[in-house]
Amino acid sequence: MKKEYGRNLVRLNNGVEMPMLGFGSVLESDTTDFSAVYDSAWQSGYRLFDTASSYGNQTAFGHWLKARGHIREDYFLTSKVAQKEQGYENVLAAFQQTISELQTDYLDLYLIHWPKEATFFESWKALEHLYDEGLVRAIGVSNFEANHLDRLLTQAKILPALDQLETHPYFSNHVTHAYLEELGIQHQAWSPLGHGGQELNDPMLKQLALKYNKTVGQIILRWLYQKNVAAIPKSSNSLRQKQNISLFDWQLTLPDERRIDGLQKGERVMGAPDENYKADLW
Ligand SMILES: NC(=O)c1ccc[n+]([C@@H]2O[C@H](COP(=O)([O-])OP(=O)(O)OC[C@H]3O[C@@H](n4cnc5c(N)ncnc54)[C@H](OP(=O)(O)O)[C@@H]3O)[C@@H](O)[C@H]2O)c1
Repeated sequence: MKKEYGRNLVRLNNGVEMPMLGFGSVLESDTTDFSAVYDSAWQSGYRLFDTASSYGNQTAFGHWLKARGHIREDYFLTSKVAQKEQGYENVLAAFQQTISELQTDYLDLYLIHWPKEATFFESWKALEHLYDEGLVRAIGVSNFEANHLDRLLTQAKILPALDQLETHPYFSNHVTHAYLEELGIQHQAWSPLGHGGQELNDPMLKQLALKYNKTVGQIILRWLYQKNVAAIPKSSNSLRQKQNISLFDWQLTLPDERRIDGLQKGERVMGAPDENYKADLW
């Protein structure tokens, strides 16, 4: 898995190319014009769109895709199996529902949204089946920590291509990151900007923003990129959308990268939806 420096692409462990920087598609419920937000994301250059059945926006997103008639090979579509959709037959049915909502024949990446003990192996087997059938180009997981991965690998035929994890400067997930690098699984950050929270006002990040003549958002996203962490920031604002994806023609020095590493304090911005998430309970 090698990132191509200066480009918004990474090659996953099965050879599929994926944009390092994609668009988090969850919009606020009071967003009046979803299409305008997706249009400006497209115009800003986003070609990876992160969706999930639990976001409840796949139908709207599918309508937008259909209406715009973008060539299918020109964009990379991710979706995720929700907790209530897990289990072998359930996943296969959920996949059909998802591609129907998204008005597509296939997904580029299909993830298990959160690990779930009761159906842990069956759900993965269903993803492997979809992959073998050519209905998904890559399969992976989300919110899987090292112990979940170890457990999965006792039975998996296919190594996950990617793990999507909460990752931002105050919650860098660096231990799991190192393990993913060792295994050859691409790390992708959700809520890379800390869900728009405190990090955006961090004094040291503000200082770096001034030094590089960038926004704090760009500093964070470039830091992730330099650490080989793909990211899916969400913005409904066209200027911020453009800034967030303008990452590939400048760089942070190594000492500055290390200063941002030092901000890690293990603070999550969102909780897990399932108490079974804590792997040590299993
Ligand atoms: N796998 C999972 O379990 C999981 C969980 C949560 C999220 N996700 C995915 O991750 C995506 C992004 O996560 P997120 O929306 O929670 O958090 P985020 O991308 O970290 O932050 C989004 C917030 O930051 C603001 N923002 C964006 N760019 C900015 C910039 N340059 N400067 C200042 N503020 C900026 C946005 O406001 P404006 O819109 O006003 O710019 C919004 O309030 C989601 O859409 C979803 O696809 C996955």
